[in-house]
Amino acid sequence: MINMKIYLIGFMGSGKSYLGKRLSTELGFQFLDLDEVIEAAEKQTIATIFEEKGEDYFRNIESESLKNTKEIENVIISTGGGTPCFFDNMDWMNENGKTIFLNPTIDILFQRLESETTKRPILANQSDETLRLFISQKLENRLKYYEKAHLIINIATFEQNVIQEIKDKL
Ligand code: S3P
Repeated sequence: MINMKIYLIGFMGSGKSYLGKRLSTELGFQFLDLDEVIEAAEKQTIATIFEEKGEDYFRNIESESLKNTKEIENVIISTGGGTPCFFDNMDWMNENGKTIFLNPTIDILFQRLESETTKRPILANQSDETLRLFISQKLENRLKYYEKAHLIINIATFEQNVIQEIKDKL
């Protein structure tokens, strides 16, 4: 398996960073988290960038940072939940690498995100009551982008061996 670039896409809480890190170790690939690349370049957290510079600014640098990954090979890149949904990012990733959509159930996403709403600007102001509906509506809007991925991994339980499944299907 040489010269491969894998983009992990999916909703917040879908496990892109956690699974990406583990998969990169198993494949002997480098691992990059796009949000971390942006935070290092801007010297600010994503939450502060949203707050001080706004979402449009963030989406522009997100797209720019994504396209800066063009020349890197043998790497797994975990993208942000919104990355595929802006500009030509999704088509660009499909042309420049292999895209994998991690697609857990709403229940799994809800359980992962309910304690993390303050870390994620997109989820700010959501209470437990509104969060589940928010996730399902936003996911519904984003599916048309996510579903363009080369590979879709549906995740139904916390125990599912997603790493093995991806390795089998690569
Ligand atoms: C976002 C998801 C976040 C981050 C930003 C916006 C989104 O990344 O890029 O807060 O629009 O869904 P994660 O999916 O890694 O949480």
